Amino acid sequence: MTLVESDITKLTGGQKLSEIVFDAETIAARVRELGDEITEHYASGDLLVLGLLKGSFIFLADLVRTIDRPHQVDFLVASSYGSGTTSSGDVRLLYDPATRLEGKHILLVEDIVDSGNTINRLTKLLKKREPGSLEICALLDKRIASKLELEPRFLGFEAPKKFLVGYGLDHAENFRHLPFIGVIDE
Ligand code: IMP
Ligand code: MG
Repeated sequence: MTLVESDITKLTGGQKLSEIVFDAETIAARVRELGDEITEHYASGDLLVLGLLKGSFIFLADLVRTIDRPHQVDFLVASSYGSGTTSSGDVRLLYDPATRLEGKHILLVEDIVDSGNTINRLTKLLKKREPGSLEICALLDKRIASKLELEPRFLGFEAPKKFLVGYGLDHAENFRHLPFIGVIDE
């Protein structure tokens, strides 16, 4: 499906995008590959896929349908950004998964790694729950993080160092529904 400019402005309410970085077909193909990698990696044991809300909700929904082995799904809600486009460095946990983590393979699913703050804080926190293993699956990585506690074992794409929206990613809660990932014209 090719989106013309009028389709895009209809979706965004007039906001212009300077670039579409990953179109829907490219994302779908990569998500399928990630699902296969994940299925292969977890040959045995209980797997719990933990989606970090809200940014990962579309990615997570597509990803779990490509993981061809039994698993459970739960969520974490952390907040690291206000309405701006730069990290505040503060990560708060607003929802803690009700599911037991002890002894399970935990796969934390993130939309994008930027400063790495979120991953670093959550990794420390989740390790305390004594999971059988802990890995990260991130759709995008901006490669801005200097040091990560845990490198994503599963990574969708290396992303440009620009502010991206769509496919779950927002700017002040807008644009999450876009079926592609683009850069807003600021
Ligand atoms: P970090 O803690 O700086 O790595 O930021 C991670 C979180 O910030 C992600 O889970 C996103 O919710 C948000 N974020 C970082 N970069 C972008 C972006 O380009 N667009 C939208 N959200 C972003
Ligand atoms: Mg966000």
